Amino acid sequence: FHYPLPANEPVLSYAPGSPEKKRLKEVLALLKQEPVDVPMYIGGLEVRTNKKETMNPPHEIKHVLGHYHIGEEKHVKQAIEAALAARESWAAMSWENRAHIFLKAADLIATKYRPYMNGTTMLGQSKNAYQAEIDSACELIDFLRFNVHFLSEIYRQQPISAAGIHNRMEYRPLEGFVLAVTPFNFTAIGGNLPTSAAMCGNVVVWKPAHTQVYSAQMFMRILKEAGLPDGVINLIYVDGPVLGKVCFSHPDFAGVHFTGSTGVFNNMWETIGKNMSSYKSYPRIVGETGGKDFVLAHKSADVDILVTALLRGAFEYQGQKCSAASRAYIPSNLAEDVKKKLTAGIESFTMGTVENFSNFINAVIDEKSFNKIENYIENAKNDPKAVIWAGGKCDKTQGYFVQPTVIEAKDPQYVTMCEEIFGPVLTVYVYNADKFEDTLELVNKTSPYALTGSIIAQDRAAVEQATVKLRHAAGNFYINDKPTGAVVGQQPFGGARASGTNDKAGSILNLYRWLSARTIKETF
Ligand code: ALA
Repeated sequence: FHYPLPANEPVLSYAPGSPEKKRLKEVLALLKQEPVDVPMYIGGLEVRTNKKETMNPPHEIKHVLGHYHIGEEKHVKQAIEAALAARESWAAMSWENRAHIFLKAADLIATKYRPYMNGTTMLGQSKNAYQAEIDSACELIDFLRFNVHFLSEIYRQQPISAAGIHNRMEYRPLEGFVLAVTPFNFTAIGGNLPTSAAMCGNVVVWKPAHTQVYSAQMFMRILKEAGLPDGVINLIYVDGPVLGKVCFSHPDFAGVHFTGSTGVFNNMWETIGKNMSSYKSYPRIVGETGGKDFVLAHKSADVDILVTALLRGAFEYQGQKCSAASRAYIPSNLAEDVKKKLTAGIESFTMGTVENFSNFINAVIDEKSFNKIENYIENAKNDPKAVIWAGGKCDKTQGYFVQPTVIEAKDPQYVTMCEEIFGPVLTVYVYNADKFEDTLELVNKTSPYALTGSIIAQDRAAVEQATVKLRHAAGNFYINDKPTGAVVGQQPFGGARASGTNDKAGSILNLYRWLSARTIKETF
């Protein structure tokens, strides 16, 4: 069975009067009607505990969406046992049947559950309708369909044979269980990390961020409806240290598929290293971590392209994309114009709940995040090395609202030029327009991260220079565009340095990590 290259799922517009908008509004109202009780899923069973947490929309913190059940060590152990019990029959299942489960899940989202995936993402993670649509509908569907295609491509790659010799490769799953740890900011990543490993025949323990539970459990239910056998993916809600303690000391731990912070990933890697001798195999360690993503403008830049790249790149989804533009280098000849247009852009943004579809900006994910972002902004207001160009207001009375903010740093090493903030804060540094080469050096050296970056220039030589000099500064490099919004199959996504192992989500490269090939030679 070979699944041909699919097309990307079309993005619906949710324009006023459109049927998709009407349906999504109905589902949002339904989801808000009464609080839900969200169990964990272990071995296909719904598991409830006596420790519950409340789910609130970040933009409407007094509303209760429901509760989810927190697991402890014994639930992690149960999830691993359930996964290992499902391993043999899952690995033995024909590729046709395994693939069809994920293709069916994609179709179920596209045709039946789209407003539910979008609705839970909007309410649980405070994404507006467009941001939810490109994530929890289109990107998630694309991951499922494209990964089936990529895997079909891998399976048919076979070694050559010779006279009297027949060689073949058997693409086995890993021998053990895979741990998927997923972040709040993309429901599609939450879907991709467990399913890409499972598709290859692996069994998975999946722990989403606590702030992602609402959409994660919706996707889990869709997988069940699509026919995923019990125990293949086990969804648990536990604290990180509890998870790590059990998983990383288990002899059958075979790999981790992670998206989250660099600090957490480093700790995981160290723990795995320390426990190395207790595992049956060398675990696969795959992680996409932090970013301090740049937009570098050349003196030849088209100001409108630049301003759009900054406004969309820095502020869509409140700057909470790992790919978000968070430091910009503006040439002195364009600075005044850019400042004026950025300020006007920010003043035109409306901020509020996700239910009002005209709000471009919604809330940041939780109080901890709000406090951290507010702190950076307040410090900048009181620091002579920084000037606030626009925004700067924070208010958490109704929800965690942070106004999109632009800080001009007088020092290119100013703290908000260097540290990952994960919020709607863009720091700009105005450089002498004749010092482009020095600025390239600055871009490259300022941050330990290397996830995404953009060069905005009309001058072809400048584009070429930046492309070469910034070769290792970004895993996704954009020319005359914002550094966000990678599309599955079009812009494989991931970065190196402190941004991760660069195993490119949305490409064939990622799938190789979840396979362990056996070479078989037969002589006649
Ligand atoms: N893949 C996401 C983007 O490119 C993070 O914005």
